[in-house]
Amino acid sequence: MSRILHRSLRGTLPVAVSAKGITITDSDGKAYIDASGGAAVSCLGHQHPDVVAAMHAQIDKVAYAHTGFFTTETAEALADTLVADAPPGIEHVYLVSGGSEAVEAALKMARQYFVEAGEPERSVFIGRRQSYHGNTLGALAVGGNEWRRRQFAPLLVDVGRVSPCYEYRDRKPDESPEQYSERLAAELDAKIREIGPGRVIAFVAETVVGATLGAVPPTPGYFRRVREVCDRHGVLLVADEVMCGMGRTGTLHAIEQEGVAPDLMAIAKGLGGGYQPVGAVLASARIVEAFRKGSGMFQHGHTYIGHPVAAAAALAVQRVIKRDKLLDAVKSNGAHFAARLAETLGNHPFVGDVRGRGLLMGVELVEDRPAKRPFAPALKLHARVKAEAMRRGLMTYPMGGTIDGQLGDHVLLAPPFIASRADLDEIVSRLAGAIDAATASLQRAA
Ligand SMILES: Cc1ncc(COP(=O)(O)O)c(C=O)c1O
Repeated sequence: MSRILHRSLRGTLPVAVSAKGITITDSDGKAYIDASGGAAVSCLGHQHPDVVAAMHAQIDKVAYAHTGFFTTETAEALADTLVADAPPGIEHVYLVSGGSEAVEAALKMARQYFVEAGEPERSVFIGRRQSYHGNTLGALAVGGNEWRRRQFAPLLVDVGRVSPCYEYRDRKPDESPEQYSERLAAELDAKIREIGPGRVIAFVAETVVGATLGAVPPTPGYFRRVREVCDRHGVLLVADEVMCGMGRTGTLHAIEQEGVAPDLMAIAKGLGGGYQPVGAVLASARIVEAFRKGSGMFQHGHTYIGHPVAAAAALAVQRVIKRDKLLDAVKSNGAHFAARLAETLGNHPFVGDVRGRGLLMGVELVEDRPAKRPFAPALKLHARVKAEAMRRGLMTYPMGGTIDGQLGDHVLLAPPFIASRADLDEIVSRLAGAIDAATASLQRAA
């Protein structure tokens, strides 16, 4: 019996013994194509020699130095790179060890900013339904993933809640995508007014919604309108790009494609590509200036912030992405992947929607296509698809509760940027087989 408290106490997991490129192999010798990058993490695939070498070199120099005593050349170089490539106004980097830590730090930065700026009455965040920002209590509070929140709700701070930007289900038939964006921005405006404009700290949103909705990009103009609303009320915009950022959608930051800059941005997963636990908050100059003029510090910290080996891994990952022009590959292979998914699954009787951007794609499963009616949650179709895909040597990231935390199933795909078109075709083919087998198993059970 395993002594690890695994994510599930039921069932057993295969043991990963080796990994290379887009493949992980278990102790029985079975190989799995990593079509989800774990949870949209492994952007360079596995065991990339340049990243492994950079980590070895850093370990041989300085494996750890506490940031209360020292900085390191590697962490400084990573911060310089991240700022050089950041949206306008972003000038500082706070290095942490993962996505939840990044979001948590961003929330505290936003709050401290208003305390330093003489507006301490700002104490409320606004988030969206069906969003995920992490599992620590602050991040969980701001997130709108009902299933993840439910039992911990009594421990979570109150947050203002608005609708997600979920075109497939929520755009009205007589509404253009732009009008839909406008309506959602008006809802945010109304929510800020309801709470009291001087009481709101920030609006927090995933630029492209990841695991909770299944790769849902914003409609045109959505973030532009949101930015206007935030500015009108002096509210900060916090972009959570933990999953969708660092190249996954074809630009380094997904929000670049929206033509706006956030005040704070959380990044993680693709930053270090899974080679080390690493995340970061990218902060705009005005926030850090307020700290500089005020208390002279950000009142936060963890033992492992700015970890040199994590920084070395992230720096190497980012250098490889640039050197090998992998953002271009994400754009062009992403278009190929989307086309193949649409061709193969677009007319599938149990596929309602294929969406996404770059190499972050989602497939929403429905029992009735015209009515967009989901399968009964008790059937756990998402879990069946995951099991069928694993049987076929394919790692995907399916999830249930797509619509409201209970109803709906989708499959998230986030293959490594190094995947070839032939690899992507193989992923689509195995996924189609898994969906067919999973839905057929439901029909047999009925
Ligand atoms: C959008 C988003 N934010 C935050 C997180 C939390 O990141 P982590 O699991 O590294 O704490 C995740 C993880 O899936 C995420 O997708």
